[in-house]
Amino acid sequence: MIDHVSTHQSEEDARNEDILIYVNGELKPRAQATVSVYDSGFMLGDGVWEGLRLYDGCWAFLDEHLDRLFGAAKAIDLDIGMDRDGVRAALLETQAANGMTTDAHARLMVTRGPKTRPFQHPSLSQQGPTFVIIMEHSKPKIPRPINLATVPHLRGLPMTQDPKLNSHSKLNCILACIAAEKAGADEGLMLDINGFVNTTNACNFFIVKKGEVWTSTGDYCMNGITRQKVIDVCKAEGIPVFERNYSLVDTYDADEAFLTGTFGAQTPVGKIDGRVIGSGEMGSMTLRIRDLYKALIKQECGQ
Ligand SMILES: Cc1ncc(COP(=O)(O)O)c(C=O)c1O
Repeated sequence: MIDHVSTHQSEEDARNEDILIYVNGELKPRAQATVSVYDSGFMLGDGVWEGLRLYDGCWAFLDEHLDRLFGAAKAIDLDIGMDRDGVRAALLETQAANGMTTDAHARLMVTRGPKTRPFQHPSLSQQGPTFVIIMEHSKPKIPRPINLATVPHLRGLPMTQDPKLNSHSKLNCILACIAAEKAGADEGLMLDINGFVNTTNACNFFIVKKGEVWTSTGDYCMNGITRQKVIDVCKAEGIPVFERNYSLVDTYDADEAFLTGTFGAQTPVGKIDGRVIGSGEMGSMTLRIRDLYKALIKQECGQ
């Protein structure tokens, strides 16, 4: 039997059955936290979202998340219906209602709202946006390094659906993940339109070679906040870091590979397309970057 692992696995926490979910200004138990079947997010994936993490009372890199949320909303011409302080207040209200102080993950979602009729045209969304925050107790627990498979689904050009948009519609990434699972791996490694290694279906991707840290140019991947922080800490510590084109040949031969994302911070990669990467376990550079990232969060949170 294949033991599948995901980059977003966490410890079971029974408290998550009783969380309160923010829906358009109200805090509701899970069973009552619903949106309309006419909602443009449900119907068409027409919305944007952010994933945020709470560390010791502090929402890590909140300003960067708000920048990306408001930037994405502007790009899809969606009025969130509140300003940055309003979003911050909604997040803190949800946190307080759930009594969460650390190790929580928030998925903040804004869609174009309910439509008057079940068709695509955005003008059919006339009631204003739907704004939801699902906040869960969350301690990432990934039992082993992640195995990746290269998939045929590409990271596309910005003029189709810009892969930088954290849009509700993630079908390209979901198909990539399904293809990887069918190939016996956990998640999909996606190439860009030129065949260079780009990113995975849910996280950004890095390799380590002879003491250097490489990631893609950033042209076709999510502008991950964790990705940027890893680049920043490497630069600050004098670790050579490059945003560059590289191929699968460079990748199979890497000493280490790891993924980045708000949920799991840095997650080691064990195998790619059946090739063991380095020792197959978390490498010393990944460990070092993990520690530097933790220290950066403490520093940014004034701890
Ligand atoms: C496709 C993809 N790549 C990377 C990331 C990681 O981004 P971040 O580090 O901002 O969480 C995400 C998360 O939203 C994502 O959906």
